[in-house]
Amino acid sequence: MNTATTEQDEEIICHCTDTSQGKIKTLFNEGCTSFDAMSERSGVCTGCGGCEDSVRDLLNDLKYP
Ligand code: FES
Repeated sequence: MNTATTEQDEEIICHCTDTSQGKIKTLFNEGCTSFDAMSERSGVCTGCGGCEDSVRDLLNDLKYP
């Protein structure tokens, strides 16, 4: 998997918890491969819930590059 940091990584995916795409990638590489695990570790989707689709899409992209 490409783990290089890109501009996209700086993009905030969850504004409620200020979680960037890069942070999600890092946690994914550490084993948070399911949505629930990711939410628990990073806090994404624990606020308004508006980022759920983006988080799920990103996880799918990471799982099936
Ligand atoms: S944007 Fe992620 S919970 Fe609100």
